Amino acid sequence: MPRHFVNFEDLTKDEILQVIDYAEKLKKDPFSDQTLKNKSIGLIFMKPSTRTRLSFEVGVYQMGGQPVYILGSSTQLSRGEDIKDTARVMSRYLDGIVIRTFSHQEVEDLAKYGSIPVINALTDYQHPCQVLADMMTIKEYFGKLEGLKLAYVGDGNNMANTLMIGCALLGLDVSVATPPMYEPNSKALQTALEFAKETGVNVEITNDPKEAVKGANIVYTDVWVSMGQEGEKDKKKLFEGFTVDDNLLSYADKNAIVMHCLPAHKGEEISEETFERFADVIFNQAENRLHAQKALMSFLYKNLNS
Ligand code: CP
Ligand code: NVA
Repeated sequence: MPRHFVNFEDLTKDEILQVIDYAEKLKKDPFSDQTLKNKSIGLIFMKPSTRTRLSFEVGVYQMGGQPVYILGSSTQLSRGEDIKDTARVMSRYLDGIVIRTFSHQEVEDLAKYGSIPVINALTDYQHPCQVLADMMTIKEYFGKLEGLKLAYVGDGNNMANTLMIGCALLGLDVSVATPPMYEPNSKALQTALEFAKETGVNVEITNDPKEAVKGANIVYTDVWVSMGQEGEKDKKKLFEGFTVDDNLLSYADKNAIVMHCLPAHKGEEISEETFERFADVIFNQAENRLHAQKALMSFLYKNLNS
């Protein structure tokens, strides 16, 4: 049975830590792992992407494999061919699938009906590859993960859901501040609370950004309007007070860093000034997508062969 990375919690805490350690090695020696030699990895995108597409294409190449970019709208998926058949067909040509789409269930189904590893490159519910790179970045800046506090300020979207789960699994306190009605997904909260019982961390949901960032080592934000929600621009009015700026940061730990998964809408979820002050962290975070995903693929394929 292939291993998948559809949900952040598909890997155990130890496995995630092992992948992060290996990503640090690959960052120093990018061509040292040729696990994907003679393998073709399909990259299906039903939504736009800059970082995810590039980091997977380059990463698969650096590991000796062939990335096959598949624009979702150019496939029969866009004409109603079902996921069950798509999974069975693609499994006959490809050695793995990376997919970015709307419905999380579709990615679960792709993994269920196919016979090759499936990696979630973002759904409306989770963005696990981003959080893997984020955790690597946090470890780079603080030398550890356990015992830190991450505050997420903004929309309770796929990033909020995955960060909550990731923090609870890996031993970071997490506080999520959103406007009322924009809280994270309740299933994600339940999952995080289950992990929190094991790791002993605090998982907090609040509507007060200042409360959330109190004592935080990491202040994280993301767009207020995610891909696929373009019709909901009016909701931005409800996000007053949720901009990550120097004033909000004054409530965080004095050595706090600011993180953003990008793309950023400066002047909305983050001020231009704060963004530029933490640009080094934010672009390292973007770079780490490449290293973390390569380490993940190596992990999934080594497990496949063992
Ligand atoms: N952070 C992220 O996933 O960026 P892209 O949408 O550009 O892939
Ligand atoms: N929440 C954003 C993340 C982009 C990387 C979106 O889904 O559009």
